[in-house]
Amino acid sequence: MTKKKIAILGSTGSIGKQTLEIIKKDKHNFNVVLLSTNSNIDEISKQIKIFKPKAVIITDKNKFIQFQKSNKKLKVFNNYLCFKKVFLKKIDYVMNSISGFDGLQPTIEIIKYTKLIALANKESIICGWNLINAELRKSKTKFVPVDSEHFSIWTLIENYNQEIDEIFITASGGPFLNIKRKKLKEVKPEHAIKHPKWKMGKKISIDSATMVNKLFELIEAKKIFNISIKKIKILSHPNSYVHAIVKFKNGVTKILIHDTNMKIPILNTLYLNKSARINSKKIDIKKLNNLNFNHLSIRQFPSLGLINLFNFKKNSLLETVLVSANDELVDLFLKKKIKFLDISDKLISILKLNEFKKLRTKKPNNLAQIMHLNRYVRLKTRALCVRSISNV
Ligand SMILES: NC(=O)c1ccc[n+]([C@@H]2O[C@H](COP(=O)([O-])OP(=O)(O)OC[C@H]3O[C@@H](n4cnc5c(N)ncnc54)[C@H](OP(=O)(O)O)[C@@H]3O)[C@@H](O)[C@H]2O)c1
Repeated sequence: MTKKKIAILGSTGSIGKQTLEIIKKDKHNFNVVLLSTNSNIDEISKQIKIFKPKAVIITDKNKFIQFQKSNKKLKVFNNYLCFKKVFLKKIDYVMNSISGFDGLQPTIEIIKYTKLIALANKESIICGWNLINAELRKSKTKFVPVDSEHFSIWTLIENYNQEIDEIFITASGGPFLNIKRKKLKEVKPEHAIKHPKWKMGKKISIDSATMVNKLFELIEAKKIFNISIKKIKILSHPNSYVHAIVKFKNGVTKILIHDTNMKIPILNTLYLNKSARINSKKIDIKKLNNLNFNHLSIRQFPSLGLINLFNFKKNSLLETVLVSANDELVDLFLKKKIKFLDISDKLISILKLNEFKKLRTKKPNNLAQIMHLNRYVRLKTRALCVRSISNV
């Protein structure tokens, strides 16, 4: 039997490593042809020894040069414009698990070289869904979302030809669900990245603590499933047992439950439509008796209120402003340049600036335009933060 050809973008991160752990247990069926990292050359070197890919991408310039010198036999690239030099024909599967806005260009570039793309990088869906969708159609490439809530909705509606009435996505609530906002002034990065239920990369852990992650997931669900935003709601659910609830117009409601283990969605994108096995816990009746859903408070998590700024009739450039400003703010917080509460406060004030608000009706036309806006918003965000830091 021929092995499935696989590429993993962002293979040194949390989702990337979990994908490789699954593949390692079934190396007879998978052939890893490409791996990528930003700067973690130690980790990717270990991965190369085990999986022997044909090519790797290292985006950090210095690390790329350092790595290339000692890996002369391997094809090593410094950016994501190299795919036509690597793939002679379509491969079977790509996992894009790069974090942040920088996942967008690789998503768009790689679609035509793969039969299926599993997309964990939610930022690219939020900023560039119309471009991604056009590329998916043109290249006849299958798309599967990896985010647990979206993977759950996708699983519940796939091959079930019924009209959706409403969707609930769940939120564990992050580390600060029950702590009053005013008590979060002195929160340090090391506290904010400690998620009570999930072990994830730093960026998404901070987004979960500010609840910007749920704002992202609402927009992500709206785009992927093309359903009115009014029909998608968030419920806090500290157990993180249920990931999505979908009620259909035919009266049926489906609920998807799985352990808090991202390997479950990842595994199922890898073995799509084939039987797959993973060590998972028995159904937990205690948890089922104690599901405990609640609505989230906008007073506690004000960034959730930003949903009202968006014009969901079409994709707009305001989504890029949201993702780019948030990427910069999280970066500044992790570098201890701004405070935890500044992330959502500044995000709200940046999105409300007239120059950005008016982008809510402007459709993204191409990748260059989105990338240009991303650079501008990051610079503007940094400038606004630096000004307020020096005013203190
Ligand atoms: N982790 C989860 O459980 C989870 C769940 C749902 C959705 N997601 C989504 O999946 C994506 C990945 O999350 P994660 O937690 O796996 O992130 P992560 O642990 O931070 O890993 C990110 C990966 O992307 C690479 N990377 C970072 N910045 C890059 C850049 N500018 N250019 C190229 N590569 C870059 C990193 O390389 P280095 O190692 O060199 O930094 C690493 O390989 C995010 O969009 C997140 O929202 C994650």
